[in-house]
Amino acid sequence: MTVRTIRLFGDPVLLSRAEEVTEFGEDNPGLRRLVTDMLATMDEAGGVGLAANQVGVLRRVFVFDTGSPGGLRGHIVNPSVVPIGDDVETDYEGCLSVPGVQVPVSRARSVMLSGVDVDGAPITVRAEGLTARCFQHENDHLDGVLHLKRTDKDSRKQAMSMIRGSEWFNR
Ligand code: NI
Repeated sequence: MTVRTIRLFGDPVLLSRAEEVTEFGEDNPGLRRLVTDMLATMDEAGGVGLAANQVGVLRRVFVFDTGSPGGLRGHIVNPSVVPIGDDVETDYEGCLSVPGVQVPVSRARSVMLSGVDVDGAPITVRAEGLTARCFQHENDHLDGVLHLKRTDKDSRKQAMSMIRGSEWFNR
């Protein structure tokens, strides 16, 4: 198990689309390792989710841990996230790749997550609230989309100026 380096805003890998995983189980030991490492990396950073792009791997994989009560911990490969109903909630959202910056983002309140696990076995999960928000945020990462793109213009402007003034961005 290895804690990997989290890529930060400015790294082009965060704006790139991740590719589908095509091999599973014993045919792809690297996939299981990736998931184990991503869970460790997320835990170390204290995040609720982490997408493979964020550790520099352009594969459609994310991990999550939305805590208890009612939260979920796990991983998903080749996910799809489909909103259930029309309810939308707006809340502040952070990202491990954009430290110290929170922006308001409107997301579907309920979603259906489907995909497969590292062995290729199907997964289907219905989620609401924070878990649903996390799934939508992480799934966006796999398409090279950051929460900054989902917020309003003024919040984005404010966030960009915070980023430009931050120690990690100017390192
Ligand atoms: Ni993020």
